[in-house]
Amino acid sequence: MGLFQSKNVLGLDIGSTYIKAAEMNVTKRGAKLLRFGYAPTPQGTLDRGEIVDAAGLSQVIKNVISEMGTKRKNACVGIWGTAVIVKKITLSGVEKQYIGDIIRDEAEQYIPFDINDINLGYFILENRSQSIESLDLLLIGAQKDFVFSYAESIEMSGLHCATMDVSGFALANCFQMNYGDLPGEVVGLLNFGGSVTNFTIVDNGDVVFSRDIPIGGMTYTTDIQKHLSISYEEAEGLKLSFSQGQPGPEELGGIIQTTTDAVVEELTRSLDFYNATAGEAPVQKFFITGGSSLVPNLQQSISTTLNANVQYLDPFSGIQFDGKNFSDDVIQQIAPFASIAMGLGLRKIGDS
Ligand SMILES: Nc1ncnc2c1ncn2[C@@H]1O[C@H](COP(=O)(O)OP(=O)(O)OP(=O)(O)O)[C@@H](O)[C@H]1O
Ligand SMILES: [Mg+2]
Repeated sequence: MGLFQSKNVLGLDIGSTYIKAAEMNVTKRGAKLLRFGYAPTPQGTLDRGEIVDAAGLSQVIKNVISEMGTKRKNACVGIWGTAVIVKKITLSGVEKQYIGDIIRDEAEQYIPFDINDINLGYFILENRSQSIESLDLLLIGAQKDFVFSYAESIEMSGLHCATMDVSGFALANCFQMNYGDLPGEVVGLLNFGGSVTNFTIVDNGDVVFSRDIPIGGMTYTTDIQKHLSISYEEAEGLKLSFSQGQPGPEELGGIIQTTTDAVVEELTRSLDFYNATAGEAPVQKFFITGGSSLVPNLQQSISTTLNANVQYLDPFSGIQFDGKNFSDDVIQQIAPFASIAMGLGLRKIGDS
């Protein structure tokens, strides 16, 4: 890297319904959002996180970056979906410096794909390893061709894919920049998107659990579509206008609540899994975000069912924004959609 080249990146969140990009200024004193861009994801370009039309996708990324007027060339892109696996494991009798040598063999038993087709990474969970003889790690695996197709689409758009991150980790990164480490607390972070809900648990500042639950805004829309026998587009329109307080068909509220109940049940299932495998302490507090966190009564339903404190994650509670480029209204509008792109934009080239 050149002497005067910036280590800052452009955070790029390729969602199933919206592509978002965040240009952040990150210094020791804090972070600031300089520019934000977004555009709808064209139908047929993405399928559950996997890129099916790299050319179509790269064209939209190109449009987003030219419209937002960013000069950044290096991107940090978030990867998500079923081809990404995050798992907490414990290794016994291994010294830290030898982990790299054995991790691939160890990972084989935890990853349900051919290990030769996987890009592997890990974090040592320093503070929670029970004894000197055992080390707790968070294992991260992503299928190579999946990673390759992300890099390919980004390079085709004229950006350089400088680094990648798991979307659920970017969510935690954004959260921590805003709320700090919250010592001694276990918090659940939920990003309700279009096709998935990213669910990440942060214990005392460490990510200890992250998975993408395959349920989100599209689940609501298809449920409305089915029950009212209307088109997908009409159902999406009804969902949005209802959530903005406009009246709709009499059954609409009930249909949405039934989907919410199913969403919360999936959440409970993931939480049970966490408690049974990785959980050392129960989750005391939840922070929710993502476009679908705006579904009426979702916050209350989670709170009641899980008997927990649930609040909206405000990505601007600890991150500044450039007042020349954003009005307060715009900031309020983008807040539910911006956390992952902002978390990705906080990364620097050279971060692991
Ligand atoms: N006011 C609202 N009320 C309810 N749902 C909304 C509202 N605004 C947006 N949504 C829904 O939020 C979703 C888009 O949110 P978001 O941009 O976070 O998802 P995404 O990142 O594209 O999807 P994913 O993360 O699953 O790939 C859509 O399903 C949309 O219908
Ligand atoms: Mg998303």
